[in-house]
Amino acid sequence: MNEAFASAPGKFVILGEHAVVYGKPAIAIAIDRRFYMSVKKSNEFMINNEAADIRQNPHLRYILGNYDMMPVSVNMDSRIPTGSGLGSSAALSVAFSAAMRALNNRSLNVADIAKEAFEAEYFSQGRGSPMDTSASAHGYGIALNMSKEKEDILWNISKNEHAWNVSRIDVPKMTFVIGCTGIRAATGPLVEKVRKYKDSNRFASDIIEEISGITVEGLKCIRSNDVVNLGKLMTKNHKLLSILGVSSDELNKLVNASLPYAYGAKLTGAGGGGCMVALTDQPDKVCEAISSRGGAPFIVKTGVEGVRTSEKSEQK
Ligand code: PMV
Repeated sequence: MNEAFASAPGKFVILGEHAVVYGKPAIAIAIDRRFYMSVKKSNEFMINNEAADIRQNPHLRYILGNYDMMPVSVNMDSRIPTGSGLGSSAALSVAFSAAMRALNNRSLNVADIAKEAFEAEYFSQGRGSPMDTSASAHGYGIALNMSKEKEDILWNISKNEHAWNVSRIDVPKMTFVIGCTGIRAATGPLVEKVRKYKDSNRFASDIIEEISGITVEGLKCIRSNDVVNLGKLMTKNHKLLSILGVSSDELNKLVNASLPYAYGAKLTGAGGGGCMVALTDQPDKVCEAISSRGGAPFIVKTGVEGVRTSEKSEQK
């Protein structure tokens, strides 16, 4: 193959972010916003047709290390807002892992892609969980550290003292609206902030336990399509994340604006800025409320396929 094409979706976290870093449960859902990538062999490293020190990009750098730093020309185009808690760097890692495999006739096993992409994220951030990369690789909906059903388990990943099992979940048709604050916030420092709080204060560990309990309850609600209680759990999760110090005035504003028209709402991803998500059956009203508070809303389509490769560009 001369050129390989791959794409991978972004995601939002419905319940359990931050707690998942400590091996607690979490649930993430893929969204219909994708990262598109093409890779071909080249005499020098190139990004979007310009000579580049690709090794300066730690996600690409890590994966290229598995190919003896073979020079490649990479073209990328993302429809996922960056630094917004929607998993754009995870989707980049997943798509690049898949494209490099396709180009080099290596296995396209999705579990291998998810693991390689997680290592690339970890290499880049120095911390984190395999939630984003697993959600992007598998698509649809995934739960971490939840399933006891063997047939639902997709893969197991461990790093240092933490281990995660990743399982598929069926997500019934529900409507979500994502609202972006437009403020970019890097994941690493927010994860570090929670870790410091947790290490120095027993209260923070209790909050993380509480988030863990909410996430387990939330999965029951998803399985029984109980949007009313799922929404309540999302809002509760937001309050607990605020106590952990990862919300912001802008996020709170968008969450509060959406609540009169939603079953529940919360920040999604690392927080600090980025985006929130609302579960609703009045998506237009929620979009209006978010816009009126200065946020950028979009309605999310779920049931989205994970990573895929092709010999031709998917984009028109
Ligand atoms: O903001 P994002 O999309 O990178 O999500 C981060 C989710 C955390 O739980 C805060 C960190 C992690 O790696 O799981």
